[in-house]
Amino acid sequence: MCGIVGYVGSSPAYAILIDGLKRLEYRGYDSTGIAVMDSGRIEIARAKGKIRDLEAMVKGVPPAGTVGVGHTRWATHGRPSETNAHPHRAGRTVVVHNGIIENYSSIKKTLIEAGRTFTSETDTEVIAQLIDKHMDDGMTPIDAIRAACREIKGSFATGVLFENDPATLYAMRNECPLVVGLGQGENFIASDIPAILNHTRQMIFMNDGEIAILRTDGVTFMDFDGNPVKKTPRLMDLNPVMAEKGGYKHFMLKEIYEQPRAVTDTFRGRISPETGEVFLDGLLLSDEEVRRIKRVLIIACGTSYHAGLVGRRILEELARIPTEVDLASEFRYRNPIVGEDTLLVSISQSGETADTIAATHEGARRGAMVISICNVIESSLARCSDRGVIYTHAGPEIGVASTKAFTTQITTLYLLGLYLAERRGTLDVEARKQFIGDLMRLPGMMEKALETSKKLERMARAYEKYTSFLYLARGINTAIAYEGALKLKEISYIHAEAYPGGEMKHGPIALISEEMPVVVLLSGDRVYEKMLSNMEEVRSRDGMLLVFTAVEDPMVEDMADEVVYVPMNNEYLTTIVLTLPLQLLAYHIADFKGTDVDQPRNLAKSVTVE
Ligand code: AGP
Repeated sequence: MCGIVGYVGSSPAYAILIDGLKRLEYRGYDSTGIAVMDSGRIEIARAKGKIRDLEAMVKGVPPAGTVGVGHTRWATHGRPSETNAHPHRAGRTVVVHNGIIENYSSIKKTLIEAGRTFTSETDTEVIAQLIDKHMDDGMTPIDAIRAACREIKGSFATGVLFENDPATLYAMRNECPLVVGLGQGENFIASDIPAILNHTRQMIFMNDGEIAILRTDGVTFMDFDGNPVKKTPRLMDLNPVMAEKGGYKHFMLKEIYEQPRAVTDTFRGRISPETGEVFLDGLLLSDEEVRRIKRVLIIACGTSYHAGLVGRRILEELARIPTEVDLASEFRYRNPIVGEDTLLVSISQSGETADTIAATHEGARRGAMVISICNVIESSLARCSDRGVIYTHAGPEIGVASTKAFTTQITTLYLLGLYLAERRGTLDVEARKQFIGDLMRLPGMMEKALETSKKLERMARAYEKYTSFLYLARGINTAIAYEGALKLKEISYIHAEAYPGGEMKHGPIALISEEMPVVVLLSGDRVYEKMLSNMEEVRSRDGMLLVFTAVEDPMVEDMADEVVYVPMNNEYLTTIVLTLPLQLLAYHIADFKGTDVDQPRNLAKSVTVE
């Protein structure tokens, strides 16, 4: 997830672009750049780091000109560096891009064969090179853009400048947000409203498959085939702070709603539904090493640890490798047994969690092959993973309570399970195709699960007065119960415990009373009947039952005080679908209680100390 902004008008572009980028910095902040057009020449300034680093580099002598584009980057392809920072130039063409180009390597190969020289490791540069090549072949700028849009596959929100068309800014969109702002004698593009809200409230939201052509005197739209598109502006009645959160009250809520998109970005370009293959470019394990693995050890903290618990089931059942999960803070001090046939999988959103990094070093010192699952590119953890990194591509997570990081980590573990299963021959092609099909259906199911929000808001109002909650589940869903309880604890400050249902009678059953809501998770898996027995046990002791289920069952309706339905996927992916209403329940309860949802007391986003 990156941020782009663009301007065409009569004011100095630099100040407008920098101001816009600062308001988009929440979308990514590992490198920044701007390009400004001056008398038919495009001047580019780029810096690794935040926008203030770019400003320091420019040192009060900003590029002059009244047409320009800017970009704040959250790296996906290519590490954060000045050469990988946008804008990217190819000949007379300059591009900024948010999104992922899935077929960039095949296009790059063809362009290199045609004599083009690349200067970055990014997928974005192929857009600039491809458009410029089409112009070399005689096309006009707009025809070159249209041709490129039809060739590239994946997601893109893109701004393009041409030295041979100096008064025009072009923008294209497919599966990434892009808004056009209409001013008086000036026009704007941005990834998100807050970047341009200080200049205009007249906005046009671009749809997939559309191109915008911006000049000082107006904006026209067409589709990728060149057909004109008529668009109606909307007057945005938002203040800048609301706008930065996409109109949501909190970053956490925004991030909860981003999850179908985030999960799609996690598997985008990594699966082939036709062949049942999974491609994990970041992994450096040889086929011989994959076959050598006798045991997988997953280490992580907090929410990432819960994702690891789901991962254990996935890796054991799909790839048939014995798998253990350990808290990094425990692992590092317990003289663990690790050998050269151990694959250590470290999971961390930030990649900066001190315990996870220390435990990873400990595992590596004892000879394990180390890979990591991270959200932040080039984080400390990513850099100490000798056999590679699988990035989750969730985009920056601002809310301290982890949401989209969790569901994208499970998605990544699912991809890893399929990848290992293919190479170790534990799943045949048809089975892998089925699992990939299930994954492709997941985002739609997540959208459906988010529709429970209104009901959960009502439930939150009814149950926020209770001081203690118990979460019960069995099997793979136990990890989701742990995660649901953690969410409630950390943002609402209500005590919550999670237990595997089978353990209830060994202690927690003593807690059951009419004063304690019991959250139950059901997904129609092999332990469904056992969970129904647990529900009976709660009911017969006057406990309250709040059931989150993927199965329609009149017996459950009879027993429960509340039932929240979600769509059912295979048992691994249903964990993700079930997670969303638990996040929403915790969120709405915290919101009613008026806690600081995005920055709960005593917590930090990255725990970089022991
Ligand atoms: C969860 O909501 C918390 N923010 C916390 O448990 C977090 O998952 C943990 O600190 C690990 O962070 P990491 O994924 O960045 O390593």
